[in-house]
Amino acid sequence: PVSPARAVGGGWPLVIAHRGASAYAPENTLAAVDKAAELGIRWVENDVQRTRDGELVVLHDDNLRRTTDVEEVFPDRAPWKVKDFTAAEIARLDAGSWFGPAYAGARVPTLEQFVNRVERHHQKLLLEIKNPELYPGIERQTLKVLGNEGWLDRSHLAGRLIVQGFSADSVRTVHELKPAVKTGFLGTPPVSDLPGYAGFADQINPSYGSLSTAYVASVQAFTGPHGRPLEVFTWTVDDAATAQRVAGYGVDGIITNKPDVVREAVDG
Ligand code: G3P
Ligand code: CA
Repeated sequence: PVSPARAVGGGWPLVIAHRGASAYAPENTLAAVDKAAELGIRWVENDVQRTRDGELVVLHDDNLRRTTDVEEVFPDRAPWKVKDFTAAEIARLDAGSWFGPAYAGARVPTLEQFVNRVERHHQKLLLEIKNPELYPGIERQTLKVLGNEGWLDRSHLAGRLIVQGFSADSVRTVHELKPAVKTGFLGTPPVSDLPGYAGFADQINPSYGSLSTAYVASVQAFTGPHGRPLEVFTWTVDDAATAQRVAGYGVDGIITNKPDVVREAVDG
């Protein structure tokens, strides 16, 4: 049974704008978090990676081709990997035109620029450390950047930050470096493995296709590193019927490119 605190409606489950409100604005740009804010969405999910000269930037793919004009600007730099470009080079790229002319000139934000915008909107951040195997030490560096100007302390104290990833080792590293920060593991581990995950992750965040009421209940029956039941945020759900179905499973959060559609589906 779904407890009253977790009943559908009343703002539960949480709705998280995937890569920002990425159905309506270019993913992982400031415009996408602006759009989420405009829709009244408090949580955004975004991805962090690292440039050749060690700057953290917000981008999903491990290369720049799909979401920027990198092939035009740097035609001789195939395969256009993020890790092979400097921050100054990436700052020259247009990360909006591929999505639509209204967004021409949007940039790939640095993590610092990104966090400042999230804070300005009073939003909450589910930050994924993407491809950590490509970027040794990115966990420590991410926490350091998040710590600048006191943002990390203000945020995790206020429950406004979760760091997640597909790599159990990377998520465990985040937990060990900064135990106060809430963490999430992306995947659907077997129930028999959950005691291990509960040592370093506050959330188990599966693709919705692999979910069931029984699995969600099994996860929530474990206690995480902060002494609270493990949570389940599922992804990426963009239609009302699926949103209602997974809400009925008792998930704690739904990650979506269309946060207005999902909010209406679970509240309406
Ligand atoms: O937050 C879940 C989701 O973002 C994981 O998949 O590929 O969109 O980063 P991906
Ligand atoms: Ca992601």
